[in-house]
Amino acid sequence: MNDLAGKHIVLGLTGGIACYKAAELCRALLKEGATVQVVMTEAAEQFITPVTMQALSQRPVFDSQWDARASNNMPHINLSREADAILIAPCSADFMAKLVQGRADDLLSLMCLARPLDNVPLLLAPAMNREMWTHPATRRNVTQLKADGATIFDVGCGDQACGETGDGRMLEPQELLDEVIAFFQPKTLAGQHVLVTAGPTYEAIDPVRGITNLSSGKMGFAIARAAREAGAEVTLVAGPVHLATPRGVTRIDIQSAQNMHQAAVEYAQNATIFIATAAVADWRPANSAEQKIKKDGSGDVPKLTFVENPDILATLAQSPRGRSGALYCVGFAAESQDLLANAQAKRLRKGVPLLVGNIGPATFGQDDNALLLVDELGSKEMVRDSKLALARKLIADIATRIRARS
Ligand code: CTP
Repeated sequence: MNDLAGKHIVLGLTGGIACYKAAELCRALLKEGATVQVVMTEAAEQFITPVTMQALSQRPVFDSQWDARASNNMPHINLSREADAILIAPCSADFMAKLVQGRADDLLSLMCLARPLDNVPLLLAPAMNREMWTHPATRRNVTQLKADGATIFDVGCGDQACGETGDGRMLEPQELLDEVIAFFQPKTLAGQHVLVTAGPTYEAIDPVRGITNLSSGKMGFAIARAAREAGAEVTLVAGPVHLATPRGVTRIDIQSAQNMHQAAVEYAQNATIFIATAAVADWRPANSAEQKIKKDGSGDVPKLTFVENPDILATLAQSPRGRSGALYCVGFAAESQDLLANAQAKRLRKGVPLLVGNIGPATFGQDDNALLLVDELGSKEMVRDSKLALARKLIADIATRIRARS
C-alpha cells in the first residue's frame, strides 16, 4: 500500500536512546510513499549521526537555525511550510517542556513554533525513563501540549534502556507508522463505538478435536482497523486467528459461537455500530466429550449429533437497540454462488439495514476481496481491492448512512 503517498513529513529527532528506532521509522515512512525531511537537535546527534539519517531519507539533514544552505537563510520557515506534518520521534521530556513554553533556541523547536498551526499538525512520540514520564511536570506538559493542539502518541511499556521497567518507551517503528497513517484518515466515525466480530469459531468435539472453518479473520481485522482510523472506539471479538491486533483496538479472544454470542451481547450494550464479519459455526456438537474419544478397534465411528448455535447478528439486530437503530447492524454473507439473491434474502432474514456479500471460497485467507453492498434500495459493488482498502471504503459508506439518518 502507499498510504502516505504525497505526504511530506518533517521527522524531528531529539535526544534519547530511542533515536535508533527513528532510523527504521524513516525507512517505513518512505516505503509507505511519504517524503521525509529529517531535522535533528544537537542532543539527538549524540545518539545517531546525520549521515545515517541522510542516507535513509535521501535528503540532507538540517540541524541548525543558522544553516546557510537556504538562500533566504530561514530554514525554519521553508521547512515547516512544505510539511504535511511535523513528527517528533523520539520526543524527549526536555523537548516537551520546551514546546510548552514556546521556546525556540534550536531549529526544531523554532520550526514547531513557526509552523502554521492550522495546516501543519504536530505529532509527538514521547520517549523517556518511566519516572520522567510519570513526573507531575511531564503530566502537566502532556496536558498542555494536547490543549495546544498537538497529537501525543501513547508510550510503550516494558524494559527500558536504563535497566528499569515501566511506561515511557517510544512505540515501535511499525506502531508509529500505523499511528501516522491513521492520523491522516478522515475521522468519519468520531464519537461512535464500533463492535466487530471476526474470524471463525471453534466448536469442540472433545479436548483435542473440533469443527471450524476457513475464515482467516483478515476482513474483520481490516474493518476494525479502518473503524479505529476513522476515529471510533473499537471492540473486536475474535475467533481463533493468527493476526496482530490493530493499534488502538480492544480485542476479546473467544473460541466457540456461544462464547462469541456472550461477548458480543455484552459489548453491544455500549456500541452504536455492530459489524458481523465472523464466520460463526451454525451448529455445534450436542455434547463435547470431556476426554479424548478413543478408537476401540471395533471399526465403529462415533455418532455426532448437533444443536444449532445462537444467531448473534439476528439477536442483536432484533434487540430493542437494534430495532430502534441505536445499534446500527451490518451483516456479512459468505456465499459460494448467487451472491446477489442470497445476500438480499439474508438481509431480510437477519433484519439488518445493510448486508455485505462476498464469495467465501474466493476470499478466505486472501489479502484482497470484492464486496456487494445490499440495502433496501438495491445493491452496490465494491470492486476487487485489498481488504484494508475495501474496509476503509465500507467504513466511509457506513458513516454516510449513519449521518443520513440523523
Ligand atoms: N452470523 C451470526 N451468528 C451466527 C451465524 C451467522 O452472527 N450464528 C452472522 C455472520 O457473522 C454474518 C451473517 O450472520 O454477518 C451471515 O452469516 P453466514 O454464515 O453467511 O450466514 P448464515 O446465517 O450461516 O446462513 P447460511 O448458512 O444459510 O448461509
